[in-house]
Amino acid sequence: MPTKNVRYARMALNEKTGRFSICKGTRVVKVSPLKPDMDIIRFAAKIIRRGGLVAFPTETVYGLGADAFNPKAVMKIFEVKERPADNPIIVHVSSKAQVRMLAKEVPEEAERLMDAFWPGPLTVALRKVDELPGVVTAGLDTVAVRMPNHKVALALIEEAGTPIAAPSANLAGKPSPTTAQHVIDDLAGRIDMILDAGPTRIGVESTVVDVTSSPPQILRPGGIPYEKIKEVLGEVKLHPVAVADRPTSVAGARSPGMKHRHYAPNAQLIVVEGEINNVIAKILEIANSHLKEGKKVGILTTDETKDSYNVGIVKSLGSRRNLSSIARNLFKLLREFDDEKVDIIIAEGVPLKDLGLAVMNRLRKASGFIIVKA
Ligand code: TXA
Ligand code: MG
Repeated sequence: MPTKNVRYARMALNEKTGRFSICKGTRVVKVSPLKPDMDIIRFAAKIIRRGGLVAFPTETVYGLGADAFNPKAVMKIFEVKERPADNPIIVHVSSKAQVRMLAKEVPEEAERLMDAFWPGPLTVALRKVDELPGVVTAGLDTVAVRMPNHKVALALIEEAGTPIAAPSANLAGKPSPTTAQHVIDDLAGRIDMILDAGPTRIGVESTVVDVTSSPPQILRPGGIPYEKIKEVLGEVKLHPVAVADRPTSVAGARSPGMKHRHYAPNAQLIVVEGEINNVIAKILEIANSHLKEGKKVGILTTDETKDSYNVGIVKSLGSRRNLSSIARNLFKLLREFDDEKVDIIIAEGVPLKDLGLAVMNRLRKASGFIIVKA
């Protein structure tokens, strides 16, 4: 339930502007992504300071924020998302000075990554300070930190005057939210406020890099491609779980989030990978066999290949020549298929390079590793 002890009465929010509505007790407020209204930001920041939960836009996906130094508030994030308690949360900062509040030391590799990619979709895992509540990091001795590249997020952190712990603002296991409506669908009635600044630009989450190991390791591919990180660091490993195409043992995984089912729509998802003409033939074959059984079939395809399908509900992620467009639309289309109540989604694989690596990591996990090699 939304926080009771937050007093809203004196807040100067104009309910007549049309930017403000209430959905099951959760305040939903439209805010400009380019020039956020500071009255609205201050209102949201006050909720954070008083221990409430605010969903806010970042350049990747919407986050569900709480004061990182308030363990009760962070506990509420786990409750409302129904998130497994062993999955740690990323802490968001608006300045490099705030990193010192969170991390004991900042290795040289981390400095280089921050200089190159902050603000942006890059998260670094650092040794945590003792003062940071253990609930944030699920008991790990490291804390994952990122500075988002979004005016609303940065202004909110700045005004709150505290680093903000924020996982993606979806129910655990569901596709991450790339619009405020996605957050409403999952969390309305459970949180205090949603800041709606329109669809997010990148559409997949940040890249998580563990810089406490040598060489540094990418634990989750994301908005900053592996290739770019390698350019900056010289040497970087991709954790085997991050690129797995079958269920992998995660004993000793540095990122407990790796082992949970993720990004999954309600429908069964099948990923078909291989040479593109073989992929199309295979998808048609699988689609037809399910249609014969009376199933509702969705096909997740690309601009170049979409006309090859004359059966099922066909949705294009974007152009294969623009993998960032594919990343941007991925979670949105998975949710659309759920809204249309398809029984099965068959997805074309995309190249494992640039943002395609993050896309394939999400698709493979969402399928529960039901992967057909064509
Ligand atoms: O783009 C993003 O990263 C979005 C926006 C809201 O910033 N956030 C996000 O958070 O995706 P979440 O909670 O959905 O994913 C956090 C990931 C999980 O895979 C988690 O296991 C990992 O980061 N993580 C968090 N703390 C960690 C730590 N100390 N060490 C290793 N991995 C960590
Ligand atoms: Mg998430």
